[in-house]
Amino acid sequence: MSNDIYLYGCPNHIVELYEQLTAQGDKVRSLKTAKADKADVDAAIQLLLKLKVDYKEVTGQDYKAGCPPSGTAVSNDRQSENGGEEDTVDPWNVATNSAKGVDYDKLIVRFGSSKIDQELVDRIEKVSGQKPHRFLRRGIFFSHRDMNQVLDAYEKQKSFYLYTGRGPSSQAMHVGHLIPFVFTKWLQDVFDIPLVIQLTDDEKYLWKDLSLEDCHRFAEENAKDIIACGFDVNKTFIFSDLDYMGSSPEFYRNVVKVQKHVTFNQVKGIFGFSDSDCIGKISFPAIQAAPAFSSSFPQIFKGRKDVQCLIPCAIDQDPYFRMTRDVAPRIGYPKPALLHSTFFPALQGAQTKMSASDANSSIFLTDTPKQIKNKVNKHAFSGGKDTIEEHREQGGNPDIDVAFMYLTFFMEDDEQLEKIRQDYTSGILLTGELKKMLIETLQPMITAHQENRKNVTDEMVKQFMTPRPLNFNF
Ligand code: TRP
Repeated sequence: MSNDIYLYGCPNHIVELYEQLTAQGDKVRSLKTAKADKADVDAAIQLLLKLKVDYKEVTGQDYKAGCPPSGTAVSNDRQSENGGEEDTVDPWNVATNSAKGVDYDKLIVRFGSSKIDQELVDRIEKVSGQKPHRFLRRGIFFSHRDMNQVLDAYEKQKSFYLYTGRGPSSQAMHVGHLIPFVFTKWLQDVFDIPLVIQLTDDEKYLWKDLSLEDCHRFAEENAKDIIACGFDVNKTFIFSDLDYMGSSPEFYRNVVKVQKHVTFNQVKGIFGFSDSDCIGKISFPAIQAAPAFSSSFPQIFKGRKDVQCLIPCAIDQDPYFRMTRDVAPRIGYPKPALLHSTFFPALQGAQTKMSASDANSSIFLTDTPKQIKNKVNKHAFSGGKDTIEEHREQGGNPDIDVAFMYLTFFMEDDEQLEKIRQDYTSGILLTGELKKMLIETLQPMITAHQENRKNVTDEMVKQFMTPRPLNFNF
């Protein structure tokens, strides 16, 4: 992993922005010294202020004359705990050197989000009246923005809606892809609110070597797996960007509003785009932002533009929504709130996200019970010791053990999970036995998903994907 990636790549552009700011500061000073026309001085100051806002947005820090941005020119000398290397987390890359996976507490500080602490979990329980989902109990959804505000409003009978999505890059979905949907389904059930699901077939066309038709077909195929999670057709709208963008004037108007309020400099800083990226990529973030505004769905919200949005997503999507939150007040909309999840580890270990193109890197929703067994036994990275004797004596390390990590995602019973953790750590439980427990958890889960998916007809997909009012009064 490279050392010079800081806040979504392209530190050069941060440096460029810094230099532009410095030059503009000099200009303002010299205009003032020269007692130039008031209008000229004001215009120069306006530009200076705007650059400062851009700078803060891109770096998370205030501009200070004479202090170049940290993590750019100085990043190579910077030493952090893991030997001077920061985890890389952006919508396209996730990499860390630690077998335990990304350091999520540090990510919260770097991204400026808030930790989902016990107090917030308790509050969600109190407001919803339901036992918190295991993803909340176990810190899998670990970070948020403005969740307290959503709960405050909900307590005052002010409703909100959910927005999540998926980039349909292939037919093959793995268990990790279901995490946000499983959690979103729970949120929808406990709060009884509308849900919109964006399938970014346009994004995948722009980023991958795929035809438009393939991307659109993958969107419909993926919709079946999503519907199989149990969403209620009366409360859920699933849409393909390729279809919905062209059919909804309101949606497109919001895209254009966002496009007008974000500069090339900003997206370069946030996403690391370069001058040779196609212009489709550069404007795409506006398309992922638009569903966070209720006026993009007049059929659901009856034209209301003030319905608060809550976005459950993996933390790598946060850059899109930092941008969205920055723009929202400037175009007269509420900022969306967010709930962020950790990544689902690859079978080979928590250093990276899984790849849909490597069949052995995860459990796919189409795997047979036998494939599941073989993959777990053969490929799941183990925190156990090399020999049984050693393992019995020293115990295993659940923190780096992928079978254990997977169980924390899928095993419902807290006490059982805790007992497994203790027994594995002390050496009572062997790696083979731990893997067997995982296999026995995954096999029925995947079989049930396949049954559900078989029952999703083309007609049902069409229903979910048709713009229509939902069962809510706005
Ligand atoms: N960009 C996301 C991906 O590639 C898809 C997406 C669109 C999304 N809108 C979203 C994910 C909202 C989470 C929340 O997977």
